[in-house]
Amino acid sequence: MIAIQDPLGQLPPPASTFAGDVDSLFYFLVWVSLASFGVILAALVYSSVVHRRKTPDQAPVSNVTHNTTLEVVWTLIPTVVVMLAFAWGLKGNLAQQVAPADALQYRVEAEKWSWRFFHPGSTEVSQHLYVPVNKPVKMTMTSADVLHSFFVPAMRVKRDVVPGVRQIVWFQATELNPPVLDANGELAVDEFGNVQGGYDLFCAEYCGDQHSTMRAKVFVVTQEEFDAKPWDKLPDDPIARGEYYYRVKGGCSACHYSDRDDILVGPSFRGLWMREGRLKDGSSYVADEAYILESIRQPNAKVVAGDRWGDVSPMPAKSEQDLSAQEVGELIEWIKTLK
Ligand code: CUA
Repeated sequence: MIAIQDPLGQLPPPASTFAGDVDSLFYFLVWVSLASFGVILAALVYSSVVHRRKTPDQAPVSNVTHNTTLEVVWTLIPTVVVMLAFAWGLKGNLAQQVAPADALQYRVEAEKWSWRFFHPGSTEVSQHLYVPVNKPVKMTMTSADVLHSFFVPAMRVKRDVVPGVRQIVWFQATELNPPVLDANGELAVDEFGNVQGGYDLFCAEYCGDQHSTMRAKVFVVTQEEFDAKPWDKLPDDPIARGEYYYRVKGGCSACHYSDRDDILVGPSFRGLWMREGRLKDGSSYVADEAYILESIRQPNAKVVAGDRWGDVSPMPAKSEQDLSAQEVGELIEWIKTLK
């Protein structure tokens, strides 16, 4: 199919090999809709003017009951158009699920409310996707809880992520869009906390409270930049690493604030260090290292009095593999700085 440009300015700039086909289908539907709108409106206006009651004594009758030719035409044409759109859409949908054999393999985990990306050959979780330009990349996606949807408008791909099912989508980026780095070599963010550079990746299936924050970036880099494995780069500073465990590896930020005192799903981490309080069983606790580590490993071991979840916390237990004791130690070092 010939790639049609974006004459009505409705689409983000194309950035993958799917854009030509998807955009052509999009504009096929737009033009067909506008054309039918025009034809129907013209018939309406014509009939209203030409067949209006011209004198007060004109009898309000018509002896026309049907017109076979007209009815066949207005049934057949839309049927053909709709079947064409269906076949075209189905073909494109299937094509996005069958990746070329040499595609790079990624694993994607969706969880309320964050994305966890595993790059080819890496076991380290990343918050953002790095893909090499002009190479097919294949995402094998699972959900830890509810329905989510992997949506990258610039790549023209969207695929639901369904619990209990492995969903596949692939794409091949055609335009470079690397991350913007700040003076320290970290990802630059603007005043609203938005990461600069890269293409937007959204969750496109309503999945609860923080659905709108379930976003990430797709960075398209050169093969050399990709080979340097930018996703594996952990900060040198242990406190900065602690924040990385909070935001990415541990996924804590999905349910715990760090910049205000409110409860999101669980308690805020601000001021958590050495916080004192009462437990459900009447005893007291102090949020020291042992308490925080236990609360991460066995969230229901100690339940704070007045906890809105009752006896069963929705917090998923994190094993040594999810977040090692050393990593929890660095997470705590970072928590100590939150005041
Ligand atoms: Cu995940 Cu919306």
